[in-house]
Amino acid sequence: MKSRVTAFCLVAALVGGVMAQDPTVPAVPTGTPIPGDYNGPYRPQVHFTPPQHFMNDPNGMFLDANGTYHLYYQYNPTAVVAGNQHWGHATSRDLYHWINQPIALFPPTSDSGVFSGSAVVDVNNTSGFFPDQDNGVVAIYTLNTPTAQVQEISYSLDGGYTFTAFAGNPVIDIGSTQFRDPKVIWYEDHWVMVVALSQDFAVAIYTSPDLKTWSHASDFSHRGLLGLQYECPNLVKLPMEGSEDDIYVLTISINPGAPLGGSITEYFPGSFNGTHFTAVDEAARIADFAKDNYAGQFFYGTPDGEDAVSIAWASNWQYTQVVPTAQEGWRSAMSLPRRNRLANITRIGWDLISLPYDLRPVLGQQLASRTDVVNSTLEVDYSGVASNAVYFEANVTGLAGVGSASTLNFIIRNPETGESVRGGYFFGDQFFVDRGGVRGFDNPFFTDKFSTSSLLRPDGTWTLSGVVDRSILEVFVDRGTTSATALFFPTQPLTVLTLSTAQLPDSVSVSVAVYALESGWKGSENGEGVVVGNVTTTAM
Ligand code: FRU
Repeated sequence: MKSRVTAFCLVAALVGGVMAQDPTVPAVPTGTPIPGDYNGPYRPQVHFTPPQHFMNDPNGMFLDANGTYHLYYQYNPTAVVAGNQHWGHATSRDLYHWINQPIALFPPTSDSGVFSGSAVVDVNNTSGFFPDQDNGVVAIYTLNTPTAQVQEISYSLDGGYTFTAFAGNPVIDIGSTQFRDPKVIWYEDHWVMVVALSQDFAVAIYTSPDLKTWSHASDFSHRGLLGLQYECPNLVKLPMEGSEDDIYVLTISINPGAPLGGSITEYFPGSFNGTHFTAVDEAARIADFAKDNYAGQFFYGTPDGEDAVSIAWASNWQYTQVVPTAQEGWRSAMSLPRRNRLANITRIGWDLISLPYDLRPVLGQQLASRTDVVNSTLEVDYSGVASNAVYFEANVTGLAGVGSASTLNFIIRNPETGESVRGGYFFGDQFFVDRGGVRGFDNPFFTDKFSTSSLLRPDGTWTLSGVVDRSILEVFVDRGTTSATALFFPTQPLTVLTLSTAQLPDSVSVSVAVYALESGWKGSENGEGVVVGNVTTTAM
């Protein structure tokens, strides 16, 4: 415990050069990245976390023409709880090794906040901000004030590193205090914005020729689960598995009031004609079956026809502001980057496929590989893995006709404290995750057991993959047809992974592999173990 506090003080001291005169009101560093100590026992190593302080939703995600992914995020640079919202910024070439950049967007007044939104590359200079370049970036976001939520834009001449607010802001003001989270995409010959009328349970669709003038086109309202608010809508074109066609998907995050409590994201497959979205049916579909995947966003600018790439906030408003990572000076991680497409699966119909984006940049040594884990157990002690993060996968065949008496289970534990996180599949029936066996955090809303129904495919094959990253578990079941993101906070790091199967008939084959993951942060630490970030400048 002591070392965590010391690490936090060290980092706080490092930003001391930009502290305000009044020590109770810390200044927000401008033009310089914020340093971070990424060594705390809860700090994920292959998931993005902010260098210090509080982060929530991913914002403004886009891929630039040089192949750099830009991730902005809701950021309070002065506390480990939400408030004082800015847009933090980080960049990456592979979505696992991140460079912390200076804060990108600042609220104009002390009582306002730059809330969630999106960013686009205005290649054809539709906005007129970029007469001499094709890499101009426009951020579109909600300015939250005590009396209104309005949509504003800022433009960047240097590829998304620094921004100037548009003099004509706001670009949309409907006199509402519950109107937020614009996500903009390009459709054939115009811009399209989906934005939440949060407490009217509507996603409003606006169109624009130039990102400055917007016309209301339609509303998609009172669909699916309502909770108490709609937030962070996204409209994205996804490839369909086994088809040349694309399909649109509208995602809506709801909070509070999700069925499991707090925050959850639902999605609607459908068609979009440039002004109106029509869902294929009335069903509410939920992508992630645990509690820590919210406000996800799809990257703007990834190639058409390929899987979309998304990142979500790996937390839940029910407890995000009290989780124990504050001992290390930070709160909240992003989910793994995921690649997404739609598939039409047996009996269920449309289903969002979610799989980890290519992990090879952080995939380390293979710790175990077995092709015979039938009615037996594989145990891997990964206490020697420096990152304390591992990837595992299981491939099962010959399952036709196998029922729920047959199981595959995994347990990740600490042999000294007896703490564990576990999960498993009752074949053809249900998959579960249980984070109740660790003791570092207790909260009535931090519920611990999640499950989902999961049918077997007619071909009798089944897969599981998972990433265990210090305080986050993500699992991907049956080739990504269902997934879960679950935070967990042990008193000591978990270090042993066990995979086992039971009651399988002879027809079944099980192969299992476990890999160390390499930290995405280690390589950018300075001599004192601090990740200092970067100030990137790009030539126009
Ligand atoms: C979702 C959200 C958004 C809002 C932002 C504020 O988590 O509530 O609706 O823009 O967070 O930080």
